[in-house]
Amino acid sequence: MTDTNVLLSVTGLTKHFNINNSWFSKPLLLHAVDDMHFQLHRGETLGVVGESGSGKSTLARLLLKLIPATAGEVNYQGRNILPLKESQSGYLRKDMQMIFQDPYASLDPRVKIGNSIAEPLREHKLYHRKEEVLERVGSMLERVGLQREMVNRFPRGYPTLGLSRYVCICRRTPPSRKYNKSLERRKSE
Ligand SMILES: Nc1ncnc2c1ncn2[C@@H]1O[C@H](COP(=O)(O)OP(=O)(O)OP(=O)(O)O)[C@@H](O)[C@H]1O
Ligand SMILES: [Mg+2]
Repeated sequence: MTDTNVLLSVTGLTKHFNINNSWFSKPLLLHAVDDMHFQLHRGETLGVVGESGSGKSTLARLLLKLIPATAGEVNYQGRNILPLKESQSGYLRKDMQMIFQDPYASLDPRVKIGNSIAEPLREHKLYHRKEEVLERVGSMLERVGLQREMVNRFPRGYPTLGLSRYVCICRRTPPSRKYNKSLERRKSE
């Protein structure tokens, strides 16, 4: 019987990079992620800890299908997402997002903070009215301890890396209603 509380189930996930630049000699494989297995239940938080170069970012990229896996399965809500084509896996972009390590590289210095946070909401058509988008952007800023007035500022105006990182956290889209409902159910159990 499948456990419906398992959100993400990873089996034998493997990524080898060929680090031999020459086309004519044998590939030289770097084992960035090797035969990884884990499960993530709804409402759970999972931390992956390891020294620099141990494969944490590669694992995240594999889960988001930003790079192809060498082997293994990633089952999201019971479906192996790795073989899905881009046209079939677009729905994942709403549910799975990455907060990049280097906020300066992921925030466009010419785009105001408010527009930067609103962009994924518009892209995924999560809100239709301008006021709804503005409200969501403002409430996300407040939720991470920033002021609503920041919507009109540019990211470069913020000297500390920490603040820019909070802006990146605000850019993630809200979880789907289905996910929220299952969380509420779990809390009331
Ligand atoms: N595109 C690539 N081509 C070749 N090798 C790569 C590629 N991406 C990552 N690697 C290598 O894979 C290994 C794992 O890298 P990764 O960035 O996943 O480590 P990390 O645990 O996130 O490190 P850090 O803590 O420094 O962020 C490293 O040896 C890295 O050099
Ligand atoms: Mg990393």
